[in-house]
Amino acid sequence: MQSSLDDLEPIASDDVATQPGLGEGAPSPEAKRVFIKTFGCQMNVYDSERMSEALAAQGYVETSEASEADLAILNTCHIREKAAEKVYSDLGRLRDIKRDRAKGGKETFIAVAGCVAQAEGDEIVRRAPAVDLVVGPQSYHRLPELLSRLRGGEKALVETAFPDEDKFDALPDRRPAKAASAFLTVQEGCDKFCTFCVVPYTRGMEFSRPVAALMDEARRLVDRGVRDITLLGQNVNGYHGEGTDGEAKSLAALIRELASIGGLQRIRYMTSHPRDMSDDLIAAHAHEEKLMPYLHLPFQAGSDRILAAMNRKHTAAEYLRLIARIREARPDIALSTDIIVGFPGETDQDFEDTLALVKEVGFAHAFSFKYSPRPGTPASTMDGQVPEDVKRERLDRLQTLIEECLARFNGASVGKTLPVLFEKAGRREGQLVGRSPYLQLVHADADPALVGSIVNVDIRSAGSNSLSGVICG
Ligand code: SAH
Ligand code: SF4
Ligand code: F3S
Repeated sequence: MQSSLDDLEPIASDDVATQPGLGEGAPSPEAKRVFIKTFGCQMNVYDSERMSEALAAQGYVETSEASEADLAILNTCHIREKAAEKVYSDLGRLRDIKRDRAKGGKETFIAVAGCVAQAEGDEIVRRAPAVDLVVGPQSYHRLPELLSRLRGGEKALVETAFPDEDKFDALPDRRPAKAASAFLTVQEGCDKFCTFCVVPYTRGMEFSRPVAALMDEARRLVDRGVRDITLLGQNVNGYHGEGTDGEAKSLAALIRELASIGGLQRIRYMTSHPRDMSDDLIAAHAHEEKLMPYLHLPFQAGSDRILAAMNRKHTAAEYLRLIARIREARPDIALSTDIIVGFPGETDQDFEDTLALVKEVGFAHAFSFKYSPRPGTPASTMDGQVPEDVKRERLDRLQTLIEECLARFNGASVGKTLPVLFEKAGRREGQLVGRSPYLQLVHADADPALVGSIVNVDIRSAGSNSLSGVICG
């Protein structure tokens, strides 16, 4: 983790747990194999895991080799043009694999899932006829049924409705955890309609899962070794799921309930909207020990004129006041954000306002993007589209500033002792990699048996992306 997004590439291996699942035996030679490539945000990472679980119940075993796969799934992202276009080049490669395998008498199904599936539907099979199945994010629980229809000879199935039934109820139980940290989707969809964004169209309206179902899923994860859960939602702090008393519960209330699970040691959540940062959630950062001091709170732009055109429903000053209140509750909180440069109409001065806001807050992490016009969104047809070279130059300047902020934040950790949850082996022999409470990657020489444990580490050095240290003796 914990990149909010990955523009071009699927989630990097560093971002996803890669340890083999406990108790997973070697696949039998005749087992069906599924290859899943995940693009985009953490919600897609969670969904890929759940799809894999649904398919495991049908006898599928995951493979990292597309050429071995009886079923290849691209779980796609539509947020920016490049992310969406990448899918078509991957589909070209899968088409060739499918053709080669057919020569050897092997059948291969190609499926497109995720937000491109939802946004483009039939268009995908028109542009890439090798695709057998297009399945939107609300229909993953139908995968087994859709696959048996393909095996029965049906072709080019497109399933992008928003069905009445809840996909979460229909998905099978979680299998053994692959790592000490896990995602748990608690809320999906968005009604905010920022003028640049496709999410309200690809993920639908806001929906919160009930508290009881989440407690159940969290307990199962913890029973299987998970210690750190990140609650996911496109607007996670707008969570309002039904409690056991039938009343709607806030995210803070959900966090308090989850914190009562004994073996669960760390709770995080993302992504939040500044408008939904309620008093009880801010207070939870002061009082709830298991809630980690990390908050991803996108502000997108520093100019009030651009914020209004984006329909963000807050000003720069309101964002700063919010940050001050959050820091009052939890002075050491690490703040992270998303920023867009080159939104239509953005002037040099507007961009300077964005730089000024970044300097003023002092972020621990930030994701920055060139504005990408998305079909069907209001901003895509606004006047004043900014030329590509101007966007590029602004992004470069912004990213230089962000690098400085990250180096400063990480540099301030040197000399401190931080509790690190070790997640997996590092690249170097004898090294483990884990996360600090502030979500920094921490490398240290350590016994592999410490994976899954929280251990104090003296931080000795820092880069802009990670820390390294020595386990306290
Ligand atoms: N509510 C979620 C939104 C997911 S999109 C969240 O706030 O994380 C993640 C980020 O992608 C957004 O915050 C925004 O900075 C960026 N983004 C969305 N649409 C974009 C577009 N059309 N062009 C460039 N960046 C975009
Ligand atoms: Fe997109 Fe805005 Fe909703 Fe985030 S809040 S998902 S940026 S519409
Ligand atoms: Fe991308 Fe869909 Fe996530 S568009 S960012 S995969 S919600």
